[in-house]
Amino acid sequence: MKNAIIIGASSGIGKDLALILVENDYKVAITGRRLIELEKIKSINSSQFIIKQHDITNFEQTIKVFDELVQEMGNIDLVIHSSGIGEPNYQLDFAIDLPTINTNILGGTLLYGLAYNLFKKQGFGHLVGITSVASIRGNRHVPAYFASKSYQASYLESLWFKAQKSKLPIYVTDIQPGFVDTPMALGKTFWMATSQKAAQQIYKAILARKKKVYITKRWALVALAMKLAPSKLYAKLF
Ligand SMILES: NC(=O)c1ccc[n+]([C@@H]2O[C@H](COP(=O)([O-])OP(=O)(O)OC[C@H]3O[C@@H](n4cnc5c(N)ncnc54)[C@H](OP(=O)(O)O)[C@@H]3O)[C@@H](O)[C@H]2O)c1
Repeated sequence: MKNAIIIGASSGIGKDLALILVENDYKVAITGRRLIELEKIKSINSSQFIIKQHDITNFEQTIKVFDELVQEMGNIDLVIHSSGIGEPNYQLDFAIDLPTINTNILGGTLLYGLAYNLFKKQGFGHLVGITSVASIRGNRHVPAYFASKSYQASYLESLWFKAQKSKLPIYVTDIQPGFVDTPMALGKTFWMATSQKAAQQIYKAILARKKKVYITKRWALVALAMKLAPSKLYAKLF
C-alpha cells in the first residue's frame, strides 16, 4: 500500500482525490481546518484514512503535523497541496489579501519545502500542487489570488527543475484547473467540471507523472487564448 498526504482535503478537489486514492490502495492522510468534515470522510474507510485538523497559515503547526504524519506513516509516496483561498478585492484592502497570501503563498512555500526535502531524504516521492489557469495572467477583480497562483506555478516549476537535476525519482506536477464545481467556485459558470471529474483527470496526470496539466483538458484552449490575448483586450474582458 502506498502513502499519500493531502493538505486541504476536507472538501472539493482534495476530498475527491482522497476518495480516488483510497480506492486505489493508498493510505491517505487528509487535513483541513474543519474537523467535522474530515471525520465524515474518515467514516467512509476508517482503516485507510488518517485525519489531522490543521491550519496551513499556522506555520509551526504545519511543520508539526507534517512531521507527525511522516513518523506515523513511514515513507510518503505522494504529497498533494490543495488548500487554497481567494477573495475579490476591488478597493485593494490589504486585510482582504493577507489571508490569501498567508494561505496560498506562505503556507504553500512551507509545504513545498517540507515535501521536497522529505523526498530528497527518502530518495523518491511525488509532489502535486493544485494551482490554477489563474496563474497565467493578472486579474483586476481578484489580484492576490491570481498572483498567488502564478507564484505557486513558478515555484513548482523550480522544484521540477531541481528534481530533474537531482537524478532521483522525484516528480513534481502542477495541476491547473479551470472552473470546478466546489464551495470555492461560488456558483455555476461555463465549462465547469464536477469535482469528481476533475479529480479523475488529476489522478491520471499523477499516474503519468505529468509536469503540468490543465483540468479539464479543454482548458488548455482557454490557457492558450489567455497567453495570446493582447493586454488591452484582456483588460476589457477581465
Ligand atoms: N474550484 C475551482 O474552480 C478552482 C479552480 C482553479 C483552482 N482551484 C484550486 O483548487 C484548490 C482546491 O480548491 P477547491 O476548489 O477544492 O475548493 P474548496 O472545496 O474550498 O477546498 C479548499 C480546501 O482547502 C482547505 N483550506 C483552506 N484554507 C486552509 C487553511 N488555512 N489551512 C488548511 N486548509 C485550508 C479547505 O479546508 P478547511 O476549510 O477545512 O480548512 C478545503 O479542504 C485550491 O487551491 C484552489 O485555488 C480551484
